[in-house]
This record gives sequence, structure tokens and C-alpha cells, in this order.
Amino acid sequence: MKKILLFADPGIDDSLAIIYALLSPEIELLGIVTSYGNVTKQQATENAAYLLKLAGREDIPVVEGATFPLSGEVSVYYPEIHGEEGLGPIRPPKGLNVVVRDFSYIFDIIKQNKDITIVDTGRTTSLSNAFNLKLELMKEINEIYLMGGAFFVPGNVTPLAEANFYGDPIAVNVVLDYANEVYITPLNVTNRAIVTREIANYIYSIASNPFKELIPSITNYYADAYAKLRPGGRGASIHDVFTLYYMLNKDKIYSVTKDVEVSVLETARGLSYADFRTNQMQPGARHTIALNFQYQDFLADFIKVMSSP
Ligand code: BDR
Ligand code: CA
Repeated sequence: MKKILLFADPGIDDSLAIIYALLSPEIELLGIVTSYGNVTKQQATENAAYLLKLAGREDIPVVEGATFPLSGEVSVYYPEIHGEEGLGPIRPPKGLNVVVRDFSYIFDIIKQNKDITIVDTGRTTSLSNAFNLKLELMKEINEIYLMGGAFFVPGNVTPLAEANFYGDPIAVNVVLDYANEVYITPLNVTNRAIVTREIANYIYSIASNPFKELIPSITNYYADAYAKLRPGGRGASIHDVFTLYYMLNKDKIYSVTKDVEVSVLETARGLSYADFRTNQMQPGARHTIALNFQYQDFLADFIKVMSSP
């Protein structure tokens, strides 16, 4: 059982990742840190609270993270992909009775759980703030998973960059510099972690959990958004769910360990790079990049977890 603290910006695929974490028997979700990204921080917080309420898991704390990137610039949101309120066609109810904790609460969670794993499926600002505030404590965390980057493949928000790393490249570099071990799921793999409408509808037909209706509703909305971006495409890439799958199955997934950096130059902002001239591991490298996986294994796992009671 992996104890995880999830940093996220729900958003459709973040929401699917939260649902996956709640349903997986291999994950104990210790908290959700919400931040700006796909939607505003406030909306991300409301969406996380809504999902916890649906699951009857209001005991899991929601912690408010970053409002904007370290640069202080105004962030851009993505209603055309994630819906007006981040859950596709669904409008989560306002005023849910969920206790939202201050940022420092994450340090309490970390202190109480020495073997904790951090997974960040959003902009990396909140996580970099945690390193800035409590460096020694954060360095004790053995494994940090980041969804982000695109290594020598096209980006999604720009030709060069993936959205999470583009959103706050300085923050990503802070985490890469100071964290013990970082595992990265870039677009190289997550673009291929596709769920079709047929699969989402199949999950609806076999599931009996509280998310049964929500799963096809948000996944199909996401697939429609992707169809506009990739005409003829088969469905939606569920980047953030893949990151949890990687955390649980990293021995089965082809990865390389290198030193990664993210460009902060305006002309190449968010571009992730590493030295791929050799397959030999760089001495002291601490950044492991997922590069290939068995799609059918991923899909079977997704169906199994998302349809479980
Ligand atoms: C990442 O950006 C967001 O839109 C998704 O939630 C995912 O975390 C993919 O580039
Ligand atoms: Ca995300």
C-alpha cells in the first residue's frame, strides 16, 4: 500500500487520477493539495472537495496550494479542454462542507508519514514552495512523481512544451534540483495513455461505485476536446492517471535515469531536456523518465480500478 500526497489541479484527468487513487486498493490517499492550472485554485479546491464528498471521504484533507506561478504572472486556464469548471459538463455544487487546510498542513502530513510518496499532476509551484519552506523535511521524501515534460517529442501548449512544465518552469527546476529522486511521466508516454468513449461507457456498464456516472461523463467530454485537437484521434489521454499507474508499476515500464532540466528562456519556455546521446546512466543522476509501456496492461488496470466498488 503506497501512502500518497497528491498535488493536483482538477481538471478532468486530475479528477480521474483522484478517483483512481480513491478506488485503488494499493493507494492510501493522505491528502490533496490543490492549485491553479487547468482551472483557478478555488475551482480546483471545490472540485477536489466534490470528489471526496461523492466518495464519502471528507476525512481526507484538502490543502490549498499556489494561486499563480513563481513569476507572479497571471495564469491561463483551459475551459475548452476541461470545461468551464474543470469537470467537463458537470457543475459541482458550491458550498460543500469540506474543511480546507492551510498550506503548512502538508508538513504535518509528511511528518506523520515517513514513508510518504508525493505525486504532482499539476503545475509544480506548490511543491517547489514546500521545498523552499521546509527543505530538510522535503529532502527526506524518497520518491516524487511529476507529470510533465516532453522529451524530443512535440509539446501540447507550445510546439516545445508540455502544459505543467510550461506553467512554472522555475518551480520544476527547484524540485528537480532539491528532491531526492524524481520520476517523470512526460507526454512521450502519457499521450499514449488513451481512454476511448467505448472504454468509458464500458466502465459505466460494469461499475457500481459512486463515480459510475461521472467517469464516462467527464472522460467523453475530454475525448471530444481531444478530437478537436487531434482530428481522427481515438479518445482522451489521461496523463495524470498514468502517473499513478507508473508509481505502482514502475518496474514494468521502460525508463531511463538522467539529469533533467527545464528551459526558462522565453523562446523555449518549458522545454524539458536531458542528454539522450548515450543510454549509459549519468553518475549521480536522480531523474527517471518513463519512456515506454504496454498499453493493454495499463488499460486493463484502469478498467479494473475504475469499476471496482
Ligand atoms: C497536463 O496538463 C493538464 O492539462 C493535465 O491535467 C495534465 O496534468 C498534460 O499536459
Ligand atoms: Ca493536471
